[in-house]
Amino acid sequence: MGDFHLFPIEERVRRDLETMSSFVDKTKPGWTRRPFTTWYEQARNWLKKEMIQCGLEVTVDAASNLIGRLPGKDPLLPPIMVGSHTDTVTGGGRFDGIIGVLAGLEIVRRIKETDTEMRHSFEIVDFTAEEPTEFGISTVGSRGMVNNLPVEMLERKDAAGRVLKECLEMAGGCPDEIPKRARKKGDVALYLELHIEQGPILEQTNHKLGVVTGIVGIHRYRVVVEGKPNHAGTTPMDMRYDALAGASEMVMALEHLCKEHFSEPLVGTVGKLTVEPNASNVIPGRVVFEMEVRSIEVTLIERVAKSFMQKARDIAFRRGLSVTFDLLSRSEAIRISPEVQQIIQQACLATTAATIRLPSGAGHDANQIARIAPIGMIFVPSKDGRSHCPEEWTDYKDVALGIEALARAVLQFDRMV
Ligand code: GLV
Ligand code: MN
Ligand code: MN
Repeated sequence: MGDFHLFPIEERVRRDLETMSSFVDKTKPGWTRRPFTTWYEQARNWLKKEMIQCGLEVTVDAASNLIGRLPGKDPLLPPIMVGSHTDTVTGGGRFDGIIGVLAGLEIVRRIKETDTEMRHSFEIVDFTAEEPTEFGISTVGSRGMVNNLPVEMLERKDAAGRVLKECLEMAGGCPDEIPKRARKKGDVALYLELHIEQGPILEQTNHKLGVVTGIVGIHRYRVVVEGKPNHAGTTPMDMRYDALAGASEMVMALEHLCKEHFSEPLVGTVGKLTVEPNASNVIPGRVVFEMEVRSIEVTLIERVAKSFMQKARDIAFRRGLSVTFDLLSRSEAIRISPEVQQIIQQACLATTAATIRLPSGAGHDANQIARIAPIGMIFVPSKDGRSHCPEEWTDYKDVALGIEALARAVLQFDRMV
């Protein structure tokens, strides 16, 4: 196998990232490519063309994931898979998810240029809609790939009245066939994902590559607080049932709860909130917000979510409001096996000594694929630890290092198993 070190990955990564960055909704801040939009479709069409140009067999699965496949020498072996996502949060950046998909293309180009033959087939997946959608679900495509996208989720509607199932059909999927066509245990030999760290640790400790030890679980709830809308000028302060004032107290209560000391890191956020009727001279009558709690330790998530609900009920009772909670989604926390960590660590160290192990505070498609296959992840540094914002940045040469390490890990695993 040729030495990946010798090749100018960096230049091609820059070109591909710049091309992907041109498929964005220019009416939105940052680099916005929401799923099921024309920009998303354009990006995927480009990606599909690149996959074909690399000599891959391209398919779209039942959950509308875009998959490029390079057949291996031994048709009896399950594929080694790499991937990530090309959708972004609104006002997001150019690297989150995207580098994990482009890395797959770069590995195939290198494999071809060096006349390397893999024993396993190699698959690159652009998973549909990884970021939280308007349907209250994230990692939509990877959920579908492993049959963790039940009918209840497929039938959810967004605010515009679109049904998730129809969106997946429009993206080329066949949601009715998800249970039949989903991958099962043993169908994937190994799933690896290259991703930006999205946090400050690699940069602050002067490391270039991170071997991920585990990924947090995420529990998300929709919280509805109902009060009474009324005139903002004529209603005395002690006669109000202000849903926003109550919701604000709940937000503060979550922050307080999550700042307690726990045996493992834990975070909680309210990142989305709508107020009705949202007029300056009307006391808010209804607030809907989404809150999430994350930790590698699921019992802590459950404990904090339960305490939060009790506190929110107390606040609502004291203020004469009502509050209800709906579980939107739950993704399980993953601890990556020591054996996979070891393969990745060797691949990273062969690439650069500036390698450490660290956990992931962000959720990934890997969380879902872990239901059916061993998974591993490699992180590259995020400038100033920033992500999910337009300033998100990783130097191209660091992305190239990540790709090189990923390629080494893929080929090492291909030889071993
Ligand atoms: C995915 O980007 C997440 O919310 O962690
Ligand atoms: Mn993200
Ligand atoms: Mn991501």
